Amino acid sequence: MTAVITDEKIPNNVDLSSDRRLQRALEAWQPKFIDWWKEMGPVGWQERDIYLRTAVSVETEGWAHFDYVKMPDYRWGIFLEPKQEGRVHHFGDHMGQPVWDEVPGEFRNLLRRLVVTQGDTEPASVEQQRNLGATAPSLYDLRNLFQVNVEEGRHLWAMVYLLHTYFGRDGREEAEELLMRRSGDADKPRILGAFNEPTSHWLSFFMFTMFTDRDGKYQLAALAESGFDPLARTCRFMLTEEAHHMFVGESGIQRVAKRAAELMKSGNGDVRAQGGVDLPTIQKYLNLWYTLSLDLFGGEVSSNAADAFASGLKGRYKEDRYPEHKLIGSTFAMDVLRDGKVVHEDVPMRNALNEVLRTEYIKDCQRGVDRWNKTLKDEGVDFVFVLPSHKFHRQIGMWAGHYFTPAGEQIDAATWAARSGEWLPNAADETYVKSLMNPVFQPGKMASWIAPPIKGINGLPETFEYVKP
Ligand SMILES: [Fe+2]
Ligand SMILES: [Fe+2]
Repeated sequence: MTAVITDEKIPNNVDLSSDRRLQRALEAWQPKFIDWWKEMGPVGWQERDIYLRTAVSVETEGWAHFDYVKMPDYRWGIFLEPKQEGRVHHFGDHMGQPVWDEVPGEFRNLLRRLVVTQGDTEPASVEQQRNLGATAPSLYDLRNLFQVNVEEGRHLWAMVYLLHTYFGRDGREEAEELLMRRSGDADKPRILGAFNEPTSHWLSFFMFTMFTDRDGKYQLAALAESGFDPLARTCRFMLTEEAHHMFVGESGIQRVAKRAAELMKSGNGDVRAQGGVDLPTIQKYLNLWYTLSLDLFGGEVSSNAADAFASGLKGRYKEDRYPEHKLIGSTFAMDVLRDGKVVHEDVPMRNALNEVLRTEYIKDCQRGVDRWNKTLKDEGVDFVFVLPSHKFHRQIGMWAGHYFTPAGEQIDAATWAARSGEWLPNAADETYVKSLMNPVFQPGKMASWIAPPIKGINGLPETFEYVKP
């Protein structure tokens, strides 16, 4: 185990060549992955030179190397953070005991489900985004899309490594199935709802990377606490890459909002008439992708969440910040439904852990939205983006099947049917946004609906040719 990544067929820092059986199994999976990438990865662009970063080390500084690469030649590999000697369980029932280097038999199924569910999201997002290259608003954005895509492919490798190494035949079968499911396919859908939703234009792509990749950050961070040490070490390095995905989303929407604000102050102030995305439409897509992403945290009261914590497999976000790590006898105060009415109640803490993680996520989303609002304020525009209530438009958990306004007020089904088009993108919004999606492929040029980035990639100017013709 070294920080530096080897230059083998499968780049890795896990001394893969010392385990011939595992190496052969992964080398047999590799061409299937490439086939999947060519079939379900980005449409077109595969033979182009793209200015991408590739992981070359797991050191905090200098872990990435930037250069032109054709996507199918990207160095997908297996990178774990170095093992910390003497690491012990720091939460749950096994607190103080040494962490596990092998899968404990009694938690095998639970752990496999955690790994497969995380793993499934990675190829799913590549599939969801595969057509976006044709309508990129700039070469800078096109390159960012592909950077996110190749790294999601690498995240799939990270989970497949765990499946192959620690779960025997079941694990190898799961690894095959990760390449068989298809986002949005009625017969073999991806596991989680938001990963079957179409990401049919760049506004949705930016919202996805802002909100859905941020769910990924929180799930990975919770798994990075795991007492199953290989999972913890894998997830810690994935988080390094994940930060860029959220940057793409947050800065992307910030640029769309800035452009809208500029257009509000020019001509007759009609943003749509001048080829922009008006702020109320941006708010609707925020409402959609934020709530789809809230669903990914699972049910509010969950025995699975309690089991994952008790067994030491999944912690809280930055577990060390909390004063107490067993959570026996403590409670979490949260809104719940009782006989169709919302009441505030204390829920046993272990059962509330999905909601605890979701609450941390919501705070993080709010910080991003605050930065968007600062942009609007700096532009002198009187509009504020708002995160809707966590009860609004939910399809998983106790709020599913009940109706709430974005402000969190309970309403009946008829009111919802009459008003949901004011809060969520309707067919006309979708048609309008799609009508803006005309590609701009000249270096340094931007589509009408988005402001240029504040700076380029890796210190390069925004006029750099991030994708070669
Ligand atoms: Fe990922
Ligand atoms: Fe991501």
